[in-house]
Amino acid sequence: MESKDIVSELNRKLKNKTPEQIIAFFIEKYNDKIALSSSLGAEDQILTHMIASINKSTKIFTLDTGRCFQESYDLIDKTNKKYDIKIQIYFPDNEQVEKMVNEKGANLFYKSVENRKLCCKIRKLEPLQRAFKSLDVWICGLRQAQSITRINAKLVEWDEKNNLIKLNPLIEWTEEQVWKYIKEKDIPYNVLHDKGYPSIGCKPCTRAIEKGEDLRAGRWWWEAPESKECGLHIK
Ligand code: ADX
Ligand code: SF4
Repeated sequence: MESKDIVSELNRKLKNKTPEQIIAFFIEKYNDKIALSSSLGAEDQILTHMIASINKSTKIFTLDTGRCFQESYDLIDKTNKKYDIKIQIYFPDNEQVEKMVNEKGANLFYKSVENRKLCCKIRKLEPLQRAFKSLDVWICGLRQAQSITRINAKLVEWDEKNNLIKLNPLIEWTEEQVWKYIKEKDIPYNVLHDKGYPSIGCKPCTRAIEKGEDLRAGRWWWEAPESKECGLHIK
């Protein structure tokens, strides 16, 4: 079990390293106690590529909310095949989902922020807890430039809620760097990115954006920018 004291030391130590070097360092140090939580977004595909080049048995998992795009499922297959890996899929608890949709409706998320957060809690946060079992570190694809809710995120953070180290190897990358790397390394990505979807979550809660709109404008577009987090990244 790690403690929060190690976080500032790791940030200092890894300050000028590349994401590949940082991931290699963490995999070496934490071995089977580290995993990538992948949404199959562009950043996570880069991290999958980097991890698979270092150690194919490092755990990579995704949370299947039951409301994902077909294009995202297609990408799981494509990625597994290309890297000869097996992305683990976690599902929400069926009883909790049934209770929620029977009480509040299948499309409850459009009715209030409270409903939307409940849906994210049941479909993402609860399975995430199970995915975290016996881990010390979770790797995420967060970038500071993604939204106002993420500008203060750091490379290595202490995740107080889950008692884990949270590693954001691409924290300082720009959108341009992401796409340059994907093209250069021929990394498989969600075909929806070419159709106006820079950020992809569940189908009913994601729409394409217009030119000039904020990168996350298509996520929970009916809500104010300050509330647009599903709870995965709230401290
Ligand atoms: S979200 O919180 O708004 O959905 P976003 O799509 O920007 O997050 O992804 C940020 C990071 O959260 C991803 O890089 C990934 O580490 C994690 N994440 C988001 N959605 C999932 C998911 N369905 N399964 C696993 N990890 C996820
Ligand atoms: Fe539910 Fe939408 Fe959250 Fe997905 S993003 S878990 S459908 S509220």
